[in-house]
Order: sequence, then C-alpha cells, then structure tokens
Amino acid sequence: MPVTALVSAKSCGVTTSALALTLASKRPSLLAECDPAGGTIRAGFLQGEVGAGFGLYHLAAAERTGPDALAQAFASHLWPLDEAGHRKLLPGLTDPAQAGALVRTWPALSEVMHVLADEAGYDVVIDAGRLAFESGHLHPTLTPAAVLHQADLVLLVVRGTEQSLTLARHVIDPLRTELAERGSGPDGLGLLLIEDGPYRAHQVAEALKTPVLAGLPSDAGTAGYFTGGGRPPRGYGRSPLLRHARTAAEQLEAAASRRQIQRQYPSRPGHAQIAGVLQRLTERGGVRG
Ligand SMILES: Nc1ncnc2c1ncn2[C@@H]1O[C@H](COP(=O)(O)OP(=O)(O)OP(=O)(O)O)[C@@H](O)[C@H]1O
Ligand SMILES: [Mg+2]
Repeated sequence: MPVTALVSAKSCGVTTSALALTLASKRPSLLAECDPAGGTIRAGFLQGEVGAGFGLYHLAAAERTGPDALAQAFASHLWPLDEAGHRKLLPGLTDPAQAGALVRTWPALSEVMHVLADEAGYDVVIDAGRLAFESGHLHPTLTPAAVLHQADLVLLVVRGTEQSLTLARHVIDPLRTELAERGSGPDGLGLLLIEDGPYRAHQVAEALKTPVLAGLPSDAGTAGYFTGGGRPPRGYGRSPLLRHARTAAEQLEAAASRRQIQRQYPSRPGHAQIAGVLQRLTERGGVRG
C-alpha cells in the first residue's frame, strides 16, 4: 500500500484532497497532517473535537526516547474519522512555531508510516503543505523534507488554471531534482489535478513535464464540508468529489505498484522492531477506533 504525500506551490486543495482520498480508500487508511504551517482539520472538518493535547507535536518528545516509544505514541495519537475506525487521522500542529521541534522527528515518523503501509496494509496519505526551498533544497523547517524523500509517491496538487500552473512551474523542477538527489527518485513525482479552470490533464502534464497520476473534480459542496465540517451535504456518499476520489485512490495504488515493480526499494532498517510495537498495540486495541 502506498505512502502518498501531497504538496502544493500555494493553497490548491492539498488538505481537501488528502481527506477525500483517505475517506474514499477501500482499505484501512491514515491521513497524517504533516503541514509545518499547522493543521486545519482539527478546527475545520472536526470542528474542535480534538484538543491540543493530541496529535503530531506530541510525537517529537516520544521520538527522543526511541523507536518503540515513538510507535506507541503514534498509535495512541490517531483519531478515528469514521465510526468503524478504519480511517484515522494524525492531527497536525496547532501552532506553526512547533514545526522546529519536528525537524529531527520526520525521518523516524516516516519510518513508522511506511511500516503501517507495508505491514498493516494501510493507505497512508500525507498532507505535506506548501513547498518551500532554501538554497535549492527543501526547507528543513518549512517542509517535512524527510517524509517527502521517503514517500512512495509525491503529488504536486495543481488546478487547471493559469495562476496555479504559473506557480507550479517554479517548484516542479527543484522538487524533481530534490527527489532525484535526496529522495526515492524522480519517478515518484506526479501531479494531482483539481479539475478547475480551462486546462485539461494532457495540457497540464505537458506544461509541467510531469504525469497527471489522478484527477479530482471541482465540487464546492463536498470540499466545503471537508474544509468546514458540519453536516454532510445531500448526496455526500455519491458526490463527485468522493466518487472520483475512489477512482483516484485506485489509480495511485496502481502507479505506486508499477513503480515498486520497476525499482528495487532499499530495505528500511528498524522495520521489525516498530512493526512489533504497532502490532501489539493493534491487538490489544491500543489504536483508537
Ligand atoms: N476539489 C475541490 N473543489 C472545490 N473546492 C475545493 C476543492 N479542493 C479544495 N477546495 C477549496 O479550496 C480551498 C483551499 O483548499 P485546502 O484548504 O484543501 O487547500 P490547501 O492546499 O490545503 O491550502 P493551505 O496550503 O492553505 O493549507 C478551500 O476553500 C476548499 O474548500
Ligand atoms: Mg492545507
């Protein structure tokens, strides 16, 4: 199951698309809100249901204790997004000033998310926020760089508008180079197109010299629900956004599988230890939901 990270050049619908993919997945799924600028799902979709004592920030201290402590903390900070608990959220930072504390946590946290994907069969979707570069490389504090380096797929979310493509043109090449030099390879990079504006998928792919791996429709009603919470709009289950997100999740799974077949991933040391902790916690119901 893939670990898919979503990023943008500027507020294109990363959080909304990440929620749509997580809620539409056919498998157990996790949305990790790793946007260093702060999470918005807690105050938005969840309408303040989750307190500040819960979520990503608290994993930084656990990581300093060791991999077991991090895996335990990770499991106990997952919030159920549905009644059955098949879809979970790792709530993001409540204050962007907390991002500095996470810099040394990202590599180990990324490891845990890959274990959840590889050993427990989860679809893991990461909201990695907006891209920021410093001296030609991903900014160490303003982006979860290590998480992007290790993701199976990194999707730049774009809209089919001139404004979105203009901004995306500036970040796509540095991002490709970053994944080539420090990540799992440039072939992990793709586009997620929000079908808004005059440009179609083939034009967007051509303009950015990058494949469109999936598309989501412009659907203000469902997107508004994901952004602000409250009552689901009428026909939510069959809404264009959710229906297309189901297809998109399958397309991403297929793209990640193709990639896995084409290349030999380096083994990830520490898997066995973390997998043991996650499994024990799941068996005794330690993971919420
Ligand atoms: N598929 C869509 N159809 C219609 N509106 C959408 C869609 N996706 C997102 N939006 C709307 O666009 C706005 C920005 O979306 P969102 O918060 O998901 O973007 P973001 O990239 O996470 O932004 P930020 O970088 O500020 O966190 C919201 O008002 C949201 O409801
Ligand atoms: Mg966002």
